[in-house]
Amino acid sequence: MRFNLPFKYRKAIKKYLPGTLFGRFLMIIVTPVLLLQMITTIIFFDRHWRSMSNRLAQSTADEISMVIRQIETAESKMEVDRVINLSANTTGLLVSFDGERKFDNVAKKWWIPNIEQFLTEKLTEKIDNKIIIEELEKDKWFQVFVETELGVVKIIFYAKKLYTPTSYIFILWLFGSSFVLFAIAILFMRNQIKPIYNLARAAELFGKGIDCPEFKPSGAKEIRLASKSFINMQNRIKRQIEQRTEMLAGVSHDLRTPLTRMKLQLAILGDSPDIEDLKSDVNDMQVMIDAYLSFTRGDGDEIPKLVNMSDLLNKIVQDAKRNDYQIIADINADIELIIKKNALERAIVNLVSNAAKYADNIWLHTNISEENLEIYIEDDGKGIPEDKIEDVFKPFFRLEGSRNSKTGGVGLGLSISRDIIHIHGGDIKLSRSERSGLKVLVEIPA
Ligand SMILES: Nc1ncnc2c1ncn2[C@@H]1O[C@H](COP(=O)(O)OP(=O)(O)OP(=O)(O)O)[C@@H](O)[C@H]1O
Ligand SMILES: [Mg+2]
Repeated sequence: MRFNLPFKYRKAIKKYLPGTLFGRFLMIIVTPVLLLQMITTIIFFDRHWRSMSNRLAQSTADEISMVIRQIETAESKMEVDRVINLSANTTGLLVSFDGERKFDNVAKKWWIPNIEQFLTEKLTEKIDNKIIIEELEKDKWFQVFVETELGVVKIIFYAKKLYTPTSYIFILWLFGSSFVLFAIAILFMRNQIKPIYNLARAAELFGKGIDCPEFKPSGAKEIRLASKSFINMQNRIKRQIEQRTEMLAGVSHDLRTPLTRMKLQLAILGDSPDIEDLKSDVNDMQVMIDAYLSFTRGDGDEIPKLVNMSDLLNKIVQDAKRNDYQIIADINADIELIIKKNALERAIVNLVSNAAKYADNIWLHTNISEENLEIYIEDDGKGIPEDKIEDVFKPFFRLEGSRNSKTGGVGLGLSISRDIIHIHGGDIKLSRSERSGLKVLVEIPA
């Protein structure tokens, strides 16, 4: 049975997990090292530090208590001086009399074990006098006040008597080595992740119809395998598209010859109404085939390049105005995209000229969203009924109403536009405009 965490927890964990692969790799290395360090620090270092500190505190407490006992049991002032001199020379304890000290707040509580606490504990085990232990200068000097019958005795000594320097070296070694480990790990991981980025980028560009010939499989074996599979897939798709276009172009081209022959034969047959109908049908077919051929010949091998979208759209609007279209534009698309310029221009011109054909007024505006450049083309014509929205994208499909000479066309415009927009990894959506006609939204990934 598989164990699955409840969704709530999975979501919570995901929130705190690093999103990138690099972050996750780093976490996989950092977490165990940190855990190990924490455990080592707590178990080994704490025990080591405690026992060392205890021992040092014990020996210092022994020395202090010995000095105090000797002072207390001295029979003369001279003997006291002798003890003071001796302790300074042999144990490093600087002993003097300090009459000013008060012993009110002797009972102290420490939450974290520290050296003063160890020394206090050891000293109170040895002597019954009241004592105060203070750090005179941080990490340098300690002073201990002891109440005796002769007055308050002050003992100053080096902090080194209580500290062990190996603890610091241990910490330094622990953190220093893990720092080196992280630095090496980061360096190596960066290089491992780069090929994955390259693969993602090549796939993204291919999705937008841009070839990435400089992309080569690199990195670890699995990533190279994925890259090779991607390149194979890319080549297969490209070959398939090429074959399909070539075949259709071939068929269309071959149809032209019998069509021309039919036209000639019809011309010989005369002028009866039936023959006129047949002539018009043959003409329609000729127009369709020519339109299709000019499409397949057109944009297939255009090379994508960086284009300023505002410039492109402004040019389309200027051309539309020159054609006497009533167009109002609000273009705010200062963004440069890698596109097949002529193809995309053709796609948008198709949409604008549809609006001009089936309506009186055209509105064009843009918006840059998080992922896409959005181009809206709206008109005030009749629009397209909701149930026909998919159909109008089919090649040679035209709505009944548009089968008249004024709007004459073959019904390829929208299918060509959609094809081109899809090649760029984008999408086209039709809906009803608030201006009564059709609203076309073209999305191009930014
Ligand atoms: N803006 C529009 N308003 C209303 N109907 C439209 C609009 N645009 C397209 N249509 C409908 O969709 C059909 C398909 O459009 P499409 O552009 O593919 O072909 P077409 O304009 O008829 O011919 P052409 O190949 O010359 O463009 C049109 O015949 C028309 O009926
Ligand atoms: Mg059209």
